Amino acid sequence: MAKFLLCALVFALCFVSTESRPIFIHSRKVYNVVDYGAVGDGLVDDTKAFMDAWKATCKSSMSSPTMHVPQGMTFLLQPLTFNGNCKSNNITVQVHIQIDGTIIAPSDPSAWKCPDDKCLRWIEFHDFKGLLIRGSGTINGQGKKWWDLKCKENKRICGRKPTGFVIGGSNNVHIDGLTFEDSPQMHIAFESSEWVKATSLTIQAPKHSPNTDGIHIQHSKNIIIYNTSIGTGDDCISIGDGSSHINISKIDCGPGHGISIGSLGKDGKHETVEFVHVKDVSFTGTTNGARIKTWQGGKGYARNITFEHITSIGSARPVIIDQYYCDHKVHKHCGNHRSAVRVSNIVYDQIYGTSDKKIAVEFSCSKSVPCYNIIMRNINLHSTEDGTQTSSICQNVRGLRNGDIIPDVPCLNEAENLSIMN
Ligand SMILES: *[C@@H]1O[C@H](CO)[C@@H](O)[C@H](O)[C@H]1NC(C)=O
Ligand SMILES: *[C@@H]1O[C@H](CO)[C@@H](O)[C@H](O)[C@H]1NC(C)=O
Ligand SMILES: *[C@@H]1O[C@H](CO)[C@@H](O)[C@H](O)[C@H]1NC(C)=O
Ligand SMILES: *[C@@H]1O[C@H](CO)[C@@H](O)[C@H](O)[C@H]1NC(C)=O
Ligand SMILES: *[C@@H]1O[C@H](CO)[C@@H](O)[C@H](O)[C@H]1NC(C)=O
Repeated sequence: MAKFLLCALVFALCFVSTESRPIFIHSRKVYNVVDYGAVGDGLVDDTKAFMDAWKATCKSSMSSPTMHVPQGMTFLLQPLTFNGNCKSNNITVQVHIQIDGTIIAPSDPSAWKCPDDKCLRWIEFHDFKGLLIRGSGTINGQGKKWWDLKCKENKRICGRKPTGFVIGGSNNVHIDGLTFEDSPQMHIAFESSEWVKATSLTIQAPKHSPNTDGIHIQHSKNIIIYNTSIGTGDDCISIGDGSSHINISKIDCGPGHGISIGSLGKDGKHETVEFVHVKDVSFTGTTNGARIKTWQGGKGYARNITFEHITSIGSARPVIIDQYYCDHKVHKHCGNHRSAVRVSNIVYDQIYGTSDKKIAVEFSCSKSVPCYNIIMRNINLHSTEDGTQTSSICQNVRGLRNGDIIPDVPCLNEAENLSIMN
């Protein structure tokens, strides 16, 4: 009898808990920054309110706590770091940040309160295992005064300009729907992170704003960038050392410097990038398109990289591999070295449109370490000027071609059947 009662009791408990579980999930707790003292007038410093709202979100025992930045308000934030070591009952929680309002940085560099005077980042997310940041909001770095800084007179704050939005040391992060504007330097950086997804973003800064890359990837793998529009003063997307398994698709790029692998191998460094797939991209008025850039004297490799279904609308150098990348203003020795970052297994498939310069395809590969297994298929790049034919540069390249290739890239060997592996 006692046994039966116990069983009945346990059963009832189980029943109740399974019944109530969905309600628990749907009633996830929302932590609104305004409830933690944020003013949202664009003038008052709301950093502390954000940190307090974050602490509450992070400590929440709910299954999917949400920090909310409401619409119709503008929040001024000093540099701040969100630490993702959020644990409730010793279970790592998936945290959600909903940004529908506008977030701005101080507009005057001298008003930035940077730790140790090093203004390297503005908003940073670190140590997350499961983070969703989404919304219709805008994150504006108000970078204009940073761009105009004369570094000689402003050494203290000019050493390095801050990156707008950094995801570091994290896993399973998804950023969706947000707009990023006018960062002092790069807009978004993924550093030492895995399984990061950026979807439906808009990133914009003026064409002449210096070093304002859209998204920079470094020491990271399994990254997806999808359905995103980027127009800035530097690379739309740049992929730096230690990056692999990167899928980039459905991107509008321009103005800007294109989608770049590198630069790799500066100052003799050993650097690597592999398994990058760039697909369905339009370059509009960019100064480069599908670009791989490496320094002479470096080591390592850039390999198994595919660019396919690319449209160029009046871009300069829609296709370029430059193994002589060099900043002539800073470096005096830009010529041939005995070592170079090895570039191999690169596929260009279905690259169409117009080129703003006569040279539409440039392969400037190193004498000591030629580019190897460069494959082109179905290329048709016409000049923006009527009646002008496009041409190519082709130095130290081994590879194959198939289908119509305009401009002619004579250094590639004609292949009858080309199976594209990567
Ligand atoms: C929390 O989890 C870790 C790893 O899963 C475990 O080693 C530790 O003992 C747990 N701590 C508590 C208080 O349950
Ligand atoms: C692509 O992003 C835009 C916002 O930039 C959004 O309106 C649209 O729904 C997205 N499309 C897909 C297929 O995700
Ligand atoms: C990238 O795309 C390839 C081919 O579609 C797929 O096998 C791979 O899993 C994708 N990588 C990521 C990180 O989604
Ligand atoms: C090339 O491909 C075609 C069709 O896929 C096939 O019929 C032909 O045998 C192939 N030629 C060679 C040399 O492999
Ligand atoms: C890298 O690319 C080469 C040439 O396309 C291909 O043979 C090789 O299988 C690729 N490697 C992997 C691991 O996919």
